Amino acid sequence: MTETDTSTATTTDGETTDVLVVGSGIAGCAAALSAAREGADVLLLTKATKPDDASTDWAQGGISTTRGDPESLKEDVIAASDGTADPDAVDTLVDHADDAVADVLIDTLEIDFDETADGDLDYTREAAHSEYRILHVDAATGTHILRPFLQYVDNHERIEVRQDTAALELITNEGRVHGVVSDEAPTGKRIYAGATVLATGGIGALYGRSTNPDGATGDGIAMAALAGADVTDMEYIQFHPTAYDGEDPFLLSEALRGEGAVLRNGNGERFMDDYHPQGDLAPRDVVARAVEAEREATGEVVLDVSPLEFQADYPAIAEKCRDRGIDGDEIPVAPSEHFLCGGIDVDERGRASLDRLYAVGECARTGVHGANRLASTSLLEGLVWGLRAGEDAVGFEPEPVEAPELRDSDPELPERFAAEKFVRLQRTMDEYLGLERDLEEVARAGAVLRRLKGEVDAYTRTRTSRSLYELRHACVTALLIARSAAENPESEGCHYVVGEDANRTEPETPADD
Ligand code: SIN
Repeated sequence: MTETDTSTATTTDGETTDVLVVGSGIAGCAAALSAAREGADVLLLTKATKPDDASTDWAQGGISTTRGDPESLKEDVIAASDGTADPDAVDTLVDHADDAVADVLIDTLEIDFDETADGDLDYTREAAHSEYRILHVDAATGTHILRPFLQYVDNHERIEVRQDTAALELITNEGRVHGVVSDEAPTGKRIYAGATVLATGGIGALYGRSTNPDGATGDGIAMAALAGADVTDMEYIQFHPTAYDGEDPFLLSEALRGEGAVLRNGNGERFMDDYHPQGDLAPRDVVARAVEAEREATGEVVLDVSPLEFQADYPAIAEKCRDRGIDGDEIPVAPSEHFLCGGIDVDERGRASLDRLYAVGECARTGVHGANRLASTSLLEGLVWGLRAGEDAVGFEPEPVEAPELRDSDPELPERFAAEKFVRLQRTMDEYLGLERDLEEVARAGAVLRRLKGEVDAYTRTRTSRSLYELRHACVTALLIARSAAENPESEGCHYVVGEDANRTEPETPADD
């Protein structure tokens, strides 16, 4: 992909920091914390203005531990991925999981995880987990972790948190990353760093329905790809099977099914046993496709929460239901974009293919998830890799190199322009790069996306605004997805190919009894 020439003028003016972290979810906070613990001065840049601008705050079910049995968690991660997860990466995850949770979440942040009546930690279970091993707070675990974490890093003497500030481009020179250009007024600011850690989250904003916040526009992935970093597995996009099917969708955590809630079709029948031996707790990609098939065949699918003490045990989700006028036990659900398993290719320390560039959390592709992610491993992966990358990123001197001066911003025209183009982008992604992909249609989607990116690039040559850059990042990320999907005829995990080019090994229709 070619970089757009956004400017002719360059400068070395700017500020410096030892470690620059971009993004304020659990992965970014963990990277900042561990770099600061190693004695580095850290600048954490985030376009967020409030905690729920980060996907972490939206995470419900919980954070997996190994509960003393790393092998068992490893087996479940690999099975959920359809055998495609990288076993070495999974070893890194399971070997460091319990220490990371104990150190940061329990000892440092003192998160009040839910307990049993006897005062022991209450472990729950989600789809494709063979054990009860997930720590949680109600089913609003992300909020309960992120808010104290943000407070903690904000109070840390070595960490500066700068909100409402977006990174627009990476500063690079001869294969090394030297920081970012931010959107600080009036024409962008160069921030030079010894090492740069991208923790910018996912891609939910590329789809019409998502369980991510609106700012999930793929910024880090696009910036890294435009700078020449390796980005892989972009076709593996996880759709959560149970998001509220209506205006203002929200997630209905898998923990509900883990504790006994069941799916029913429009005829009131349970159906998941027809699709997979694990029934309602089958891997997420299987459940998502089954829900969509049953919605098409019978009109709707509901999550029946009557087996649970729903109001008492899941107050945060119950409140969301009440807000939308649902007061019974049956909540209409449909799949919704949830998580990108691929991203910026990194090693076991979060190192990307460009020197002094790291990526952690959802924007990174560690290999842990392969083609499909096991529930409640995203917070864990962000925490483990965030800590490891932050530690590794310490010890490099910032080197101010020539970097572009951006154009003056002209918010009015680009703001409207960006909103309209976003709708076109989302329609293309929903139609051609959703739960099922026909590779001929994917190729057509690629052509639409290339045209869209061309229109956006024309604007970024003459002016800049955050919304324009977000749109540009979304277009670049969408193109990466389309390209990966087009190149992979194999149905694996979340990438489900239909049509003439499909090369499938699993059954397309419900299994016969
Ligand atoms: C959920 O609570 O269902 C989502 C958990 C996850 O995506 O890991």
